[in-house]
Amino acid sequence: MGLSALCPGTFDPATLGHVDIIERAGRCFDGVVVGVLENPGKTPLFSVEERVAMLKDALADVANAEVTSFSGLLVDFAKARDLRVVVKGLRAVTDFDYEMQMAQMNSAMGGVETFFVTTSPQHSFLSSSLVKEIARFGGDVSKLVTPYVRDRLEERLGAARRA
Ligand code: PNS
Repeated sequence: MGLSALCPGTFDPATLGHVDIIERAGRCFDGVVVGVLENPGKTPLFSVEERVAMLKDALADVANAEVTSFSGLLVDFAKARDLRVVVKGLRAVTDFDYEMQMAQMNSAMGGVETFFVTTSPQHSFLSSSLVKEIARFGGDVSKLVTPYVRDRLEERLGAARRA
């Protein structure tokens, strides 16, 4: 039995930065479970099914990656799936406080340990929120997300822009 990592996130939508972190985690662990948070408290642009479909498309060639959704606490999902390691990307020091707090809380609550991967430099400025903002105003996101995600963004936001 190998050791699998959990890559959790909201992924609204997944960016090439996320895909890079997941692929790199997949090369370090025997498997990667990508957990898409279904967060009833927030209203994401894309449904959890749509976000899962985007990641399945992006990771179709990553044989040891599995994409699924979860709700509730990350530690409970990790326990249910027998996962003890979380992998997250760090873009810049501005991510650090929040990520450290979550990592310490998850370790204290559920014995889940978090490993941080530094984002590739070409992705350090990339975020789902910025991608949505750029797409909303008609900017080109084709270097920031997969073609599939770019098309879904255009479907969702393009009509409103043209109206
Ligand atoms: O991509 P994000 O939005 O930075 O991911 C955040 C995520 C999904 C990893 C985090 O919000 C999470 O784990 N949520 C599940 C609820 C939970 O366990 N909260 C307590 C964290 S200490």
